[in-house]
Amino acid sequence: MSRRGSIDLTTTVAGVRFPSCFMNAAGARCVTREELEALGRSRTGAIVTKSMTVEPRSGNPEPRYYGFPTGSINSMGLPNLGYLAYARIIPELRKFGKPIIASVAGFVEEDFVKIARVINESRPDLIEVNLSCPNVPGEPQIGYDAQASERLLAKVRKVVSVPMGVKLPPYFDPAHQEKMVGVLERGGVEFLSLINSVGNGLVVDPDRESVVIKPKGGFGGLGGSIIKPVALANVRAFWKLFGGRLPIIGTGGVCSGSDAFEHFLCGATAVQVGTTLVEEGMGAFERLEHELASLLEKKGYASVLACRGKLKEL
Ligand code: DHB
Repeated sequence: MSRRGSIDLTTTVAGVRFPSCFMNAAGARCVTREELEALGRSRTGAIVTKSMTVEPRSGNPEPRYYGFPTGSINSMGLPNLGYLAYARIIPELRKFGKPIIASVAGFVEEDFVKIARVINESRPDLIEVNLSCPNVPGEPQIGYDAQASERLLAKVRKVVSVPMGVKLPPYFDPAHQEKMVGVLERGGVEFLSLINSVGNGLVVDPDRESVVIKPKGGFGGLGGSIIKPVALANVRAFWKLFGGRLPIIGTGGVCSGSDAFEHFLCGATAVQVGTTLVEEGMGAFERLEHELASLLEKKGYASVLACRGKLKEL
């Protein structure tokens, strides 16, 4: 359990206790059995799997990830082992004694249902339904279509008995967030993970006069520091829209303890770490815990939950 000095860094999402409020973001170092076991041995507060599809996939051509000082761009194209492999691996990850979150994706509605039904039987602690993969050529992000999201959630909810949440794309207009509230309520969603990468950005290297990743002509999902204000805005907006009653896992730009603190002030209950984990490795968890605990102590907060949602408005 993550108690640093007198500061309590544990948290609870949808009734599930997490030994630390920091965990990997889906996609970051969580594709293979080896990576998932390394997460198990690390200080991550949960093991989040790569978004899984029905068939195993090798993903898009490389280079497909590029890190730069203020963030990252990726177009991985859902490389993963296929859901049957994760259904076998998940029970074996139990030995690490931390929650397991299975991230479920697909190309058509029936993929999500098929995967969710079988993965639910492997008993992850939570299922995160990914409504927001931006990197498959020709496939729009489901989370940008409220009706498609509603149809999908109605079907998936029926086959999931563990706590079910959704990973949402960033929204840039309050009307879109408001519209999703009803969809999420009617869909029986028990937690939110937000945001996914800011889709279809473009990073240019002026020296080479070139794009930096190969798929989709260089377009890809942005992560890291540069997306933090977008992430915070979405955490805050959904926290308010749900009156603080729906747990939110904040993702986007968590590079320091202070970044995590900002997510908690906006209403997050836990945070996920993507770009920083890819760039820094598993040691990031210990550093982040240390930085957050020092900051909370200095500010007189005894726990993560004590500062949740406490953002002041002027
Ligand atoms: C991929 C990227 C995402 O942002 C996501 O949610 C799922 C998959 C990918 O390209 O592999």
